[in-house]
Amino acid sequence: MILNASGCLDALTAPAVARSLDAFVTKTVTPLPREGNAPPRIAEVEQGMLNSIGLANPGIDRFLSQTLPRLGELGVPVWVSVGGFTVADYADLCDRLDDRPEVEAIELNVSCPNVDDVPGSVGEIVAAARAATRKPLYTKLSPATADIAEVALAAQRAGTDGLSLVNTILGLALDNHTLKPRLSRGAGGLSGAALKPIALAAVYACYAATGLPIVGMGGIASGRDAIEIVAAGAASVALGTILFSDPDAPGRIRAELASEMAALAVGEADNVIGLAHAKTTAASETAAAAAALSVQ
Ligand SMILES: Cc1cc2nc3c(=O)[nH]c(=O)nc-3n(C[C@H](O)[C@H](O)[C@H](O)COP(=O)(O)O)c2cc1C
Repeated sequence: MILNASGCLDALTAPAVARSLDAFVTKTVTPLPREGNAPPRIAEVEQGMLNSIGLANPGIDRFLSQTLPRLGELGVPVWVSVGGFTVADYADLCDRLDDRPEVEAIELNVSCPNVDDVPGSVGEIVAAARAATRKPLYTKLSPATADIAEVALAAQRAGTDGLSLVNTILGLALDNHTLKPRLSRGAGGLSGAALKPIALAAVYACYAATGLPIVGMGGIASGRDAIEIVAAGAASVALGTILFSDPDAPGRIRAELASEMAALAVGEADNVIGLAHAKTTAASETAAAAAALSVQ
């Protein structure tokens, strides 16, 4: 399954791109409207991009009355990403989404690097959200933590149905001439190619620890990247930064992924999930089969 990463696609301005996905994930919605941080809030850097958008969004009231009905008409399953500043915020947001038929799943963004307020522990947030909704819950974690598998286990114990891995990690870029930060806020969230090995490590560790379904993201830009994050343990893949330069990436990556799987002769996509954890890899099995044929 291919999704977009939250905040990286506006389905209402690019409906064709949204329809090329298996599910559309909204930008994180907060209890109140937010302007976000002052510009400049995007900077291209080597191997990726920095952003300090700061969760700019219309707030839950306007989202429910104006945005969600229009998203529901797109014909694509909608996942709503929610973010708050207290445990109660998350519970309220989930409660208000619970009876909305347009919503297939809720992603709990407990990991935005661009807001200062620190919400409660992940376990408390997930438990409160779980009590507030019957919708499937995916908890989106930050890779900037000493032991992400521990956090994932806390989310699992509190009742999350899946994990979204990973959010961005703080980075800083300085202006060539002034040597001042290029983003008005100073540091921002680093995404894109530089995040890929970090995302792979997070997915690998959390799959081994929890066995939960994982939406893997972080620098996925090709079918090869996609098959690697699935092998690390992701059941689905989300595309973020790549969508800014290549809106056709969902179709392209789907086709490339099919070629990668055919080349490795692994059969259906489900066979690849977690393959990096297996004692023998598909590649070694293929090589072993080829060697066996050549001696016969
Ligand atoms: C411009 C921009 C805005 C983002 N906004 C959000 C957001 O609102 N909520 C969220 O959970 N993640 C947000 N993210 C993080 C992405 O969803 C994703 O986790 C991250 O970019 C890693 O994937 P990528 O390397 O493919 O971009 C944002 C990322 C970017 C680049």
